[in-house]
Amino acid sequence: MRTHRCGELRAGDAGTPVILAGWVHRRRDHGGLIFIDLRDSSGLVQVVFNPQIAPEASAVAAEVRNEFVLLVEGEVQPRRAGTENSDLPTGAIEVVAARVEVLNPAETPPFPVNQDTPVDELTRLRYRYLDLRRERMAANLRLRHRVVKFMRDYLDGRDFIEVETPVLNLATPEGARDYLVPSRVHAGSFYALPQSPQQWKQLLMVAGFEKYFQIARCYRDEDLRADRQPEFTQLDVEMSFVEEEDILALIEGLYTELAANVGPQFEVPSPFLRLTYREAIERFGSDKPDLRYGMEIADLTSLVADTEFAVFRNATEAGGRIRGIAVPGGADTPRRGLDALTELARENGAGGLVTVAFTGEGSLDGLTAEDVRSPVARFFTPEQFAALGRACGASRGDLLLIAADRDAVTSRVLDVLRRRVAEDRDLADPGQLIFAFITQFPMFEWDGDEQRWSAVHHLFTAPFAEDVELMDTDPGAVRSHAYDIVCNGQEIGSGSIRIHRRELLMRVLARLGMAEEEATTKFGHMLEAFTYGAPPHGGIAPGIDRTVALFAGERDIREVIAFPKTKSASDPMTGAPSPVSERQLRDVHIALDLRAARS
Ligand code: AMO
Ligand code: AMP
Repeated sequence: MRTHRCGELRAGDAGTPVILAGWVHRRRDHGGLIFIDLRDSSGLVQVVFNPQIAPEASAVAAEVRNEFVLLVEGEVQPRRAGTENSDLPTGAIEVVAARVEVLNPAETPPFPVNQDTPVDELTRLRYRYLDLRRERMAANLRLRHRVVKFMRDYLDGRDFIEVETPVLNLATPEGARDYLVPSRVHAGSFYALPQSPQQWKQLLMVAGFEKYFQIARCYRDEDLRADRQPEFTQLDVEMSFVEEEDILALIEGLYTELAANVGPQFEVPSPFLRLTYREAIERFGSDKPDLRYGMEIADLTSLVADTEFAVFRNATEAGGRIRGIAVPGGADTPRRGLDALTELARENGAGGLVTVAFTGEGSLDGLTAEDVRSPVARFFTPEQFAALGRACGASRGDLLLIAADRDAVTSRVLDVLRRRVAEDRDLADPGQLIFAFITQFPMFEWDGDEQRWSAVHHLFTAPFAEDVELMDTDPGAVRSHAYDIVCNGQEIGSGSIRIHRRELLMRVLARLGMAEEEATTKFGHMLEAFTYGAPPHGGIAPGIDRTVALFAGERDIREVIAFPKTKSASDPMTGAPSPVSERQLRDVHIALDLRAARS
């Protein structure tokens, strides 16, 4: 249909006759001359219609509107001196039209396609095909393609093979809520969509493939957030005869090279930082710390051990600690700002927040009472405040935020405060991607709702050999060979070395409160496979949506998914999910009872 693509024409093409096809990006009528920016997937080119040269074409051009689809025949010419557009790759030339054909007219789009104006989410998803025409979204999807292509090539080059695994699976307990698919043939039975290909990839290791990967679609019926979609994609990886370090090295290499290839505009320090789970919680209050800024948490308990201040005394007596962070330059935070931070601490479970502002500049030496502003000033001497400040790495001009409570509370609160302050004060450099591996996650955590221990990662994760005996006596203290790759405050991927022996898997299932019978109906195939010479193995699964969002500089993974769901897991364009006919329900032996849902 066409001879060239709009975005590829350059000064050197001057004099070339061309046929182009594309969309009307913008039209400008200059009393006589009509300029149309014609857009195809390669970019834009300016087409000029001159009634003196091409009266018929100009008459048609006068009638077209944005997003009409045109076929244009003309000749490339240099733009008149002074009218070049250096922002546009094709800005040195224009196409002088001889003939134009409207391939398809277009309604006025519900939002401008030719600019990145804010449009409400529902409208964007309702007309996603128009949203994807916009430059930013089109660039995001192209970036996604390059990321996935790079991952495939990288692993292919290291002898991995990609294997597809089933989407219709056995429903298993544990993990998030499943999406279920009713069976027609087996009345009353259901398949579950995979939350991940976890079991399949382990079975492929038993099968002897040694190095597997898959760009795998996963499904989880969870509450949705900016970094969570009901269906999402993982780079699923599994290897045999490896130790934790082998997997981390593979992934570090992959992400370092990925950054160099698809995101060279980012600074990606290497080697990646390694933090144990405990260290991460102690220093940042989070197992996915944003490492682009400091504000590390300090333990202040011993510095205020014999204080009269009841909040601190009560907290330590109850087995808690006093922990704090220093906000650089935060001493000028107005009263309103301090109240907001205190409120945030309360929302996250603390009784309140102690703030200490150090006025002036320079070190904390020679601090006087006049240099300290704090609601608890009367309880502490300037020397004590200076000691607290030094422990947090503060100088004058900084603000201390101090929380007293159980570790679980102070960690959560200081993590939230740290992130809020960084956001408010623009402390995170958007040009940096700071990756880190978090290791030695605990194996089990207590599930208060279910009143039992549950697996922190998943139940196939190998416990530390030396901690196995603690499974019976102190499950919370068992460390596991689970690890995460995190970046800029986000979990990007998770993995572990697996259990490959039947006895150990049985023990873990028992620890999770699973009776032997349930264990063998739900996991019998895994238990059995492990008796036929399962190799030691392990793997990881970075989230592709989160990875691409990172490289695209997007906060919400929906910006890098072609057709995502809304926060309530629906698709405003197609209308999914929807009721189905009686007939379809009968086929799968389902009768609806919506009383509970409606009340
Ligand atoms: P996990 O459940 O931690 O591990 O998931 C791994 C990675 O998948 C991504 N992810 C999501 N992305 C978008 N929306 C979601 N709802 C969502 N849930 C998870 C995240 C996360 O880090 N089978 C194990 C991996 C293994 O052990 O090898 C697993 O699925 O980026
Ligand atoms: P109160 O004794 O409730 O008047 O609190 C005195 C000060 O201590 C106030 O500034 C509170 O915000 C703060 N505060 C209360 N509980 C805590 C806590 N758990 N950790 C840190 N500060 C607290």
